Amino acid sequence: MAEKITISLIKADIGSYPGHGRVHPDLIKTAKECLQRAKDENLLIDFFVTNCGDDLCLLLSHKKFIENPEIHKLAFDTFMKCTEVAKGMKLYGAGQDLISTAFSGNIRGMGPGVAEMSFFERESEPLVVFLSDKAEAGMWNLYLFKIFADPFTTPGLIIDPKLHDGFSFEVHDVIEHKKIIFKCPNEMYDLLVFIGAPSKYCIKSVVRNSDNEIAAVTSVEKLSLTAGGYRGKDDSVMMVRSQSGFPAVGEILEPFAFPALIAGGMRGSHHVPVMAVSLKDAHPTRFDSPARVVALGFQLNGGNFIGPIDLFDDPAFDLARQKCNEVMDYIRKHGPFEPHRLPLSEMEYTTLPYVMRKLKNRFQSLK
Ligand code: 13P
Ligand code: 13P
Ligand code: MG
Ligand code: MG
Repeated sequence: MAEKITISLIKADIGSYPGHGRVHPDLIKTAKECLQRAKDENLLIDFFVTNCGDDLCLLLSHKKFIENPEIHKLAFDTFMKCTEVAKGMKLYGAGQDLISTAFSGNIRGMGPGVAEMSFFERESEPLVVFLSDKAEAGMWNLYLFKIFADPFTTPGLIIDPKLHDGFSFEVHDVIEHKKIIFKCPNEMYDLLVFIGAPSKYCIKSVVRNSDNEIAAVTSVEKLSLTAGGYRGKDDSVMMVRSQSGFPAVGEILEPFAFPALIAGGMRGSHHVPVMAVSLKDAHPTRFDSPARVVALGFQLNGGNFIGPIDLFDDPAFDLARQKCNEVMDYIRKHGPFEPHRLPLSEMEYTTLPYVMRKLKNRFQSLK
């Protein structure tokens, strides 16, 4: 009988150069060596290592199902080994996202971002992997809504009988640790009430209504909440299955032609636009921004990764990138003012609290 395969996409910022710029090639090399050993020992079917800015991303395929301690330990050990290399080079923020250095069975809640899904590989299985930098975990909300619930983005929702029953969204309240499922299109307006607030509500996964088949999954770990203070931004990841009953690759990419504003720029404390870029441009420099998103296309072959195709390496996204630069210029003019700077409620998790503490006793009552 056919076995389910599992794809685990696990990322962490474990050091970069210069500053929060990009992952050093020696870290990529170290990660590949660790994962090759695991492949040689048959723990993994296949793997792919890359980065978006200063975030190191491990894409793993295996038959161990989701939340598997061996797979999570492999990712954790790989990040630890890379941290050693980063420390040896005095890279910036070495070990940044590893909040805890003692592994206890699951990498979730230790700092890294985790997105996993298990499924029976179809006759042909296209997969789109998204990576981000300088971006909050909830950044995928707008895009996932458009891909799986907006017929102006995905005409397949209307004209393809296999998509016509719609999709359901699992939303996590990342502050109060609760989850809820919304079935679209029926509950579209209820869904939007929540996912329009991406600092608290993040879409974790999407399934197809007709058969509950998994369609997409994201990492929703919020680093500041895990760490109890500001360490870096979430810079989350996402995977979307494509074609033959799921949105076409072009439908999945279409929403990224709009440079949405998200939280995550400079010191994790600013709203900035998202720029869809190829891997070669996936390292923010100006004002540690604009936020970057990369899309890598794969075909699976018995769990082996055929690819990647660098999907935003396409002049069709040039206008979106130009618009993104214009929006960046515009919002930058606000300097330290909202809405460029995040509202105070979100600044509680960043660099501001110590100023508040310092001045607390100087505030006088107006009464
Ligand atoms: P599939 O139904 O094979 O996914 O094709 C959809 C399509 O035509 C892509 O543009
Ligand atoms: P990262 O979250 O990518 O490490 O960035 C941190 C930061 O504050 C950049 O300004
Ligand atoms: Mg960093
Ligand atoms: Mg980063």
